[in-house]
Amino acid sequence: MTDSSAPTVYVETYGCQMNVSDSELMLGKLSAAGYVPVDQPDGADVILVNTCAIRDHAEQRVLGRLGELKRHMKKDSVMGVTGCMAQRLGPQLLEKAKHVSIVIGPDGYRALPQLVDGARRGRKSINTTFDLEEHYEDFTPRRFDKVKAWIPVQRGCDYRCTYCIVPTTRGSERSRKLDDVVRETHGVVAEGMSEVVLLGQTVNSYSDGTHDFADLLRAVGGVPGIRRVRYTSPHPNDFSDRVIAAMAEVPAVCEHVHLPMQSGSTRTLRRMLRRYSREGYMECVEKIRRAIPGVTLTTDIIVGFPGETDDEFEETLSAVREIGFADAYTFIFSPREGTPATRMPEESFVPADVASHRLQTLVDTVRTASRARNMGLLGTRHEVLVEREAKRGEAMLMTRTRDFKTVLVPGDASMLGQYLTVELTGTTGSTFTGAVVRERMPLPMAG
Ligand code: SAH
Ligand code: SF4
Ligand code: F3S
Repeated sequence: MTDSSAPTVYVETYGCQMNVSDSELMLGKLSAAGYVPVDQPDGADVILVNTCAIRDHAEQRVLGRLGELKRHMKKDSVMGVTGCMAQRLGPQLLEKAKHVSIVIGPDGYRALPQLVDGARRGRKSINTTFDLEEHYEDFTPRRFDKVKAWIPVQRGCDYRCTYCIVPTTRGSERSRKLDDVVRETHGVVAEGMSEVVLLGQTVNSYSDGTHDFADLLRAVGGVPGIRRVRYTSPHPNDFSDRVIAAMAEVPAVCEHVHLPMQSGSTRTLRRMLRRYSREGYMECVEKIRRAIPGVTLTTDIIVGFPGETDDEFEETLSAVREIGFADAYTFIFSPREGTPATRMPEESFVPADVASHRLQTLVDTVRTASRARNMGLLGTRHEVLVEREAKRGEAMLMTRTRDFKTVLVPGDASMLGQYLTVELTGTTGSTFTGAVVRERMPLPMAG
């Protein structure tokens, strides 16, 4: 039974999985302090907006949303802004949105209950200090997802890609202890889940001083009850032979790698300070494909980076065709204040119309290639895990194959978390529809 006098908290999350995981930790912390999580902002005592700063568009959306959410506030509700945009803008946020009273960056959530209590007594506060020791080990996350668990294994980033705000908003790279990650994985199994997704900005550079990412994959994949291990995002430079071997050898580790490429042009990659060339990226793909037959690759790509010529963009298209990604998240370069890319010569900036046109061409190229491949898969059978009810349509479930294909199958909520065998019956180009293949019934005993 919930205590009807207990204060309620609503959290809205933007950005990457790391932010989703942080929201789960924040809700866990506030629940432990007596707050009741609710899934609507209306009349919540505490409204938190966990924000992303990766592109200007992401920030503009949040600013708009803060205005909208104000209308859901009671006289004594308090609103907090957390996450990467909070870290980046700090006090400016209190200026931009007068109804906001708490601003907390990614390393400051330990103080959440005190800061929220303070805000409810009328005290505004800002907490944006980095804490390189902070992994929130003693927090119990309150998970949104009932089928797969997001497990942060590394915070921050030590790369300095010239377009990227993340090192500014999340600070230096640090890893959790392997034992702590394994303990959390056991807990996940005890909660009834069999899939984990290990999170870090360059997750395969994981190191707790004693263990590397290969050790971590083996340890997590070895936890009884874990059937699927995924991770995001690895950096091409940190794919050691040990990591690839662990991926190939641990049965639970899924045959899918999300490997951000950003560009297929060595010259662009150099200006981005990605620290690999087109050939280096291709070699990494080759190594992974040799070790893990049937592995699926997805990627992130930025178009319109300063100085990107037509030829350089063509190199991205040719890399996409050569590699054959199953899917790609594609972005137009967005200048982030204070990052090195903003200091590149003004005349090198790619005009907005050129960048939009490139984005469209890229999206079409990715789709054409994946549609052709997906058509060829119709009729094949796969193991899927039922992740959730599909948003559109009635009585349809969203399921995933081990290699990250989305398959819609008929069914109801009672099947969440189940593994099924499905035959792919149709494709929209990027996602599939499937039919459940019934296990053959045992034959009746003779006599
Ligand atoms: N750590 C991950 C990426 C995290 S950000 C990695 O290195 O792969 C997720 C994606 O957002 C990036 O891969 C990149 O494609 C995109 N991105 C980051 N900064 C951007 C910017 N300033 N403009 C446009 N896209 C950006
Ligand atoms: Fe950003 Fe590069 Fe770090 Fe990824 S590796 S978070 S793109 S700086
Ligand atoms: Fe956004 Fe921060 Fe993630 S900037 S992408 S929420 S690390």
